[in-house]
This record gives sequence, structure tokens and C-alpha cells, in this order.
Amino acid sequence: MLLTLDGNGPLYLQLHRAIEALVRGGHARPGERLPSTRDLADELHLSRNTVRAAYELLAADGVLARHRGSGHQVAAVLQTRAGTPAQPPAPPQSRYARRLRDAGPFVVGAALPAVRLNLKYGEPLTNPLLPDLWRRELARSAAYTPLGYPHSGGLLELRGEVAAYLERRRGIDVAPEDLLIVAGTQQALSLVSRVLIDEGAPAVIEDPGYFEMRWVLQTHGAQLVAVPVDRHGLQVDRLPERRPALVYVTPAHQFPLGVALAERRRAELLAYARRQQTWIIEDDYDGELAFDPPLRAPLYGADDADRVVHIGSFSKVLAPSLRLAYLVPPRALRDDFRAAKYLADLGCAAYDQAALATFLRTGGFQRHLRRVVRALRQRRDALVEGLRRHGRGHFRFDVPSAGMHLVAWRSNRSGLDLSRLAQVAAQAGVGVHLLDRRHYATPVASPRALLLGYGRLSPNEITLACRILGECIATLERDGERGPDESGSQ
Ligand SMILES: Cc1ncc(COP(=O)(O)O)c(C=O)c1O
Repeated sequence: MLLTLDGNGPLYLQLHRAIEALVRGGHARPGERLPSTRDLADELHLSRNTVRAAYELLAADGVLARHRGSGHQVAAVLQTRAGTPAQPPAPPQSRYARRLRDAGPFVVGAALPAVRLNLKYGEPLTNPLLPDLWRRELARSAAYTPLGYPHSGGLLELRGEVAAYLERRRGIDVAPEDLLIVAGTQQALSLVSRVLIDEGAPAVIEDPGYFEMRWVLQTHGAQLVAVPVDRHGLQVDRLPERRPALVYVTPAHQFPLGVALAERRRAELLAYARRQQTWIIEDDYDGELAFDPPLRAPLYGADDADRVVHIGSFSKVLAPSLRLAYLVPPRALRDDFRAAKYLADLGCAAYDQAALATFLRTGGFQRHLRRVVRALRQRRDALVEGLRRHGRGHFRFDVPSAGMHLVAWRSNRSGLDLSRLAQVAAQAGVGVHLLDRRHYATPVASPRALLLGYGRLSPNEITLACRILGECIATLERDGERGPDESGSQ
């Protein structure tokens, strides 16, 4: 279930369409309560008036019913546009479907369709040559790739190139037969859950952490064990005494805080996995996008007890639309992962794999990566400079040494309401995103940090966005909308 605004027309109409599609698609049951206007406004970074207007319109259309004291619910009998009752959605047909409905709606990204300068995180678009390069590779691969089913574990030529890349760039020694090509980290995480999780099995996640992994585990029926993250990464001394089925970590560059797992904790985590006979799921997200080499070596390379599942993706270093990633299972689990991938989809699209293999083999990828890292460094510098100049002392942050976003914590002496800032900035054409309860497994009060992506905008655009942001802050200061003074410490 995705609540995604389509970017066409006024925001309240976009929201109206998104909710209507959700309800008519059977993803929300009759009688199901919708989030309050305040909660949904916070979640989507919209104003409450926008959400209110959308809800009222949906009520007028007979999609929602309003009940005094309990807010808006999905109408008991939906009317189609012609006025006849619509087909009610079937009850969930499996426990998995039940959990899908309970865990959603899955709101992806913050909805800021109208903004001109979107400091969105998680979207790399820094090499304008890439579409052309890729078109050429695809045309070539279409000419020689056999039409039959590809190997479900991945084309051997691509696995060979990925193995060579892992050795060169990440310092880990993997035989091509040992790794699997998968459809994004997301598929890797789904396979991990299938292979390792039974209903009720405890699974450790980082808090705050990658919500898409949390959702995957939740819908597979895992019992989530949220372990806090501080500036040295996962607090390994707070791992549970009872053996978890897995521990999911982003050690090279924690999502969303951007910190690296400290050396001592890495060793302790590996020792914990060995002692507990549990599995570490290492998401090497952003590991390659480091500005100040040497890169953090993956845990996989330091694991001498065969406990680490290593996952890397081409989403950040090339493009998320590619949907290609790799999974290196521990040897003891290799056959299970192979079989699970085979049954999931019989293998990833061969043309894309062949194109990527050539791109890696001929050095095009390496040139692209160098270019991306150079461009990202310039954009990061523009953001750091812009925030220092225009942040009006409201933020404190570490300069990112890797990746594509910066975490700007509200400073101790600032009483700025960050949700309000996000709304005002959106009205001024700048998209800023909150570190908020979507990132946390445990309840959090109001957001205390902004996640500012610098992958998509040019340095000049970033500078302009910071200037506008500074003006928005000044307006809030003038209007006295600083809220109560709260601690801004991590
Ligand atoms: C922590 C983390 N891992 C992995 C990914 C990439 O996922 P995928 O390979 O499915 O695109 C992301 C994307 O934002 C992420 O935040």
C-alpha cells in the first residue's frame, strides 16, 4: 500500500486521489480509521488544511465517513462514481496479507510534489551522461544476450565482474559462484526474511533505521527488537541476551544517521554473532560513496565464522531504477538463498545484467563512480557552506564523509519547530525532509533533525535552497513560532 502523490494539480486533490486509489484498491477496509489530519500532515509534510480539505472531499464523495470523536473512517459501503455500491475488498486471505494490511500504509518518501528545489535524500542523479551511456550498453546487450531463461543466481559474467569489483573496491574475496544477483537490496532483504525468519522470531534492527527493512521483517511476522544507534553506530552492548534470528546493520554508513560502526563495536558484533550463532545482515548501503578514502571495510571481510550476509546495491552508485544488487550469503546458507531466489523470480532480467557486466568490465562504471563522488563532494560542500551561512545557528551537524545526505540536528538552544519549517519551506519551493517517526521503531516526539539530500541539486541550486531556507527560518523567528525550548541533543 503506497500513498504516493502524483504531482498534478493542487495538493489536496493529489491527496484525495491517492487516498481514493488506496481505498478503492482494497488496501483499506470499510470502517478502518484514517490517521488524524495532524498525523497525516506531519507524515507527508503537508499543512493540516490540505489534509482536511482532502478528507472533506472524500467524505462528500462517499469514500470516507466522519464520526464524531473518532475522526475519519473508510465508508462502510463505497459508492462507485456511477453511484452503485463498489465491490468490498476481500478479507485478508493469509496471515501475511493480514500483516501487510496492518503494517501499511507504506508511505514512501515525503510527498513534496510542488517544490522546485527538493533536498530529497536517497536519489542519486549526479551524472548527466549516464542515460546515454546506459542506452548504448543496453543496445549492445540486447544484440548478444540469449533469449532463454538466464541463470537464476545471475549471469556468470556479471557475477565475475561484481566479485572483481568487491575485491578491488571493498577488499573482500568472493568467488563468482558464491554471490547472487538480486533485484535490489529490497529483494535481498525479502529473501533474508524468507530464509531466516519464522513467525514470532526475534530480529534486531537499528533504531533509527531503514524503515523498508522494518516493514519487510514485520510483514514476515518477525518480532522486532529495536537497538539504539548513537554516533558510533549500533549500540552493540544493548543486543538482546536471547538469540535473535538475525541482526540487521548498515555498518559502513548508517541509515539514516550517516555514522560508521566503530572499530571496537564491529569486533564485538562479530563476536556476538559467533557466540549466539545468529546471522549479521550487512547492508553495505552507500559504502562506496565515500569522499575521504580509505573506505570502511565491510564486516564480511572480518568474519571468520561464516555469520555475515553481505548485501550491496547498484541503486546509489548507478540508479535505483536499475533494480540490481548482489547478495553474498555465508557458505552455510548458500543453497537456501539460491533456492529462494530461484523460486522468487527465476532470475533478474538478463539484458540489464549483461549491460551492467560490460559497463563494469570496460571501466565505464569506474569512471562514472569517480565522477559521481567528485560531484557529490562539491554538492556536500555547498550544503555545508549554505547551512553554516543561512542556518541562523539552529543546526549542528557532522560533515558527511560518505553518501548523499546530511543530518542537521536542531541545536540545543534552538526551539525551531522543524515540521513547521518543512511546511513553510515547501510553500517557498524548497523540500526538506524530517528525521521522524517513520525512521524510528520506538515512538518519538517531534522531529529533532532534518535529513537533507544533496544528490539531486547542483551546487548553485543547493546554495539557493539554503538561502530560501534561511529566509523561512527568519520568518518563523519573527512570527515567534519557535515552540518550546527542547533539548536538541542526539
Ligand atoms: C539502508 C538502505 N539500504 C539499501 C537501499 C537501497 O535499496 P535498493 O537496492 O532496493 O534500491 C537504501 C535506499 O534508500 C537504503 O536506504
